[in-house]
Amino acid sequence: MAAAAESAPMISMEEVRKHNSKTDCWVVLYGKAWDLSKFAKAHPGGSKIIFELAGMDGTAQFDPIHPKDIMDKLLKPTLMMGVVDPATIDPAKDVKQIIKKAPPPKKKAVAKKRRSDRGGGGLGQATNGCNAQHLRFRIRRS
Ligand code: HEM
Repeated sequence: MAAAAESAPMISMEEVRKHNSKTDCWVVLYGKAWDLSKFAKAHPGGSKIIFELAGMDGTAQFDPIHPKDIMDKLLKPTLMMGVVDPATIDPAKDVKQIIKKAPPPKKKAVAKKRRSDRGGGGLGQATNGCNAQHLRFRIRRS
């Protein structure tokens, strides 16, 4: 809300860092600090993701998923605690890195392929008491 932003106090990131718990959770989004302590529990994406950013700048995590003006629509203006002085934000400390999940290891795929190369019998047959695959394997080799 533009009016709220204009009258909001300028605060430092040092102040935001103090509000870093589940019961006192401020998160900076687009330069404004929001008290998300209560909202987090109702957040459709879960509370954990918000609490992990308590006392930090969460804009990088927030931006790809939400419309920029969603706070103004869903949060009370009184939850906007202040405009953060950008000079006080330390990206190394205040911004969490987005860690992309590593691709699944390729080794597993190779192991699967080798099992099926031996004549079809997968783990299912090996564990159901049928030794047919095993016998065929021995005959072919002798
Ligand atoms: C640190 C801040 C936040 C983070 C990291 C975050 C992250 C997320 C994530 C990961 C989802 C799930 C997306 C999915 O399942 O595809 C989500 C959903 C959602 N979030 Fe947030 N969120 C944050 C703050 C907020 C705030 C402040 C609001 C509103 C004021 C909000 C509103 C919503 C809504 C409405 C959805 C459901 C979207 C849908 O299902 O289409 N979030 N959020």
